[in-house]
Amino acid sequence: MRQGAGLIPARNPEAVAVLGIESTAHTFAVGVVEEEKPGRVRVLANQRAMVKPDQGGIHPREAAHEHAEKAPGVLAAALKEANLRPEQLEAIAFSQGPGLGPCLRVGATVARSLAVRHALPLVGVNHCVAHLEIGRGLSGMVDPLLLYASGANTQVLALSRGRYRVFGETLDVGLGNALDKFARGAGIPFPGGPEVERLAAQADRAKLLDLPYVVKGMDMSFSGWPIAAERLVAEGHSLADVCHAIQEHQFAALVEITERALAATGKTELLLGGGVACNARLQEMARSMALERGVAFFAPPRSLLVDNGAMIAWLGHLKLRAGGAVAVEDSEVQPYERTDTVEVTWR
Ligand code: ATP
Ligand code: FE2
Repeated sequence: MRQGAGLIPARNPEAVAVLGIESTAHTFAVGVVEEEKPGRVRVLANQRAMVKPDQGGIHPREAAHEHAEKAPGVLAAALKEANLRPEQLEAIAFSQGPGLGPCLRVGATVARSLAVRHALPLVGVNHCVAHLEIGRGLSGMVDPLLLYASGANTQVLALSRGRYRVFGETLDVGLGNALDKFARGAGIPFPGGPEVERLAAQADRAKLLDLPYVVKGMDMSFSGWPIAAERLVAEGHSLADVCHAIQEHQFAALVEITERALAATGKTELLLGGGVACNARLQEMARSMALERGVAFFAPPRSLLVDNGAMIAWLGHLKLRAGGAVAVEDSEVQPYERTDTVEVTWR
């Protein structure tokens, strides 16, 4: 990418905290972080506001409108939590992609205006890579494999030859979106995942209803099971038993791919990321697989698993140190950016 020479402000050597803005989809979030010791993150602030559609899925332009309304309040809350003024920051980072264009543009606009107004370097980062890097920064893991399961994304990632390569992924929808779709049909408001987890915990664990389990090579498919699960409910099975079956089948597919990716790459550390990874049953399944293989396991706290600004700030910090600031005119959003096109310059 071209970097307009001279247009990137120099970093203030006294400032150490980076502010990060997340707005890829339903969450507008602002986080502030600093490096506690080499490679380890200290979260100074982590604030968010989430769009909750009344009905149906997320409408990109309506969500963007809500983000724009909430942005000043979330930003002020994060600066207050970090006890910093903008001019005391080292840089402004933002989610450049992938995500919904109108939503991404709100975060990018707020980031640019802060950077210009306070003469701070601007750093655009990849959202999926940020999910991985925050786990490294929290755990101290050196070279982990990431199981990243969120609403829109489901991927198994690890570093290979200078990039985070995708070792397996969904062929259609992300697992979280499939959970939300099933939940909507069952009258459960967005986000559906937490309620599916709560209901599944009430199920008779000895009973396992049959549902599609679709693994193709190293990839997965989640678009079919919500219809099959709806059919089970219509046949009179309890919502709890159906939710239990959903978790057992779909999480097993995730863990199968993850285990094979660990075997293929020889990585000895496993990290979780993404909102679906908040699920205690998924964490239990992934942890026990890792332990059986002698692989170290780490799941960040929920506030850093879901979309958040702190992970954007942390990747911004890493990228800034590697010379990754960008001129404002080169900071257009990348709604379709693929994880494996990002050059990992900071490792
Ligand atoms: P991305 O942009 O990375 O795809 P996202 O916009 O979907 O992320 P996240 O906050 O990472 O946002 O994830 C939200 C998803 O996580 C929703 O689909 C939600 O239903 C799901 N989720 C949240 N908590 C749980 C849980 N406990 N169990 C299962 N799914 C969950
Ligand atoms: Fe995410």
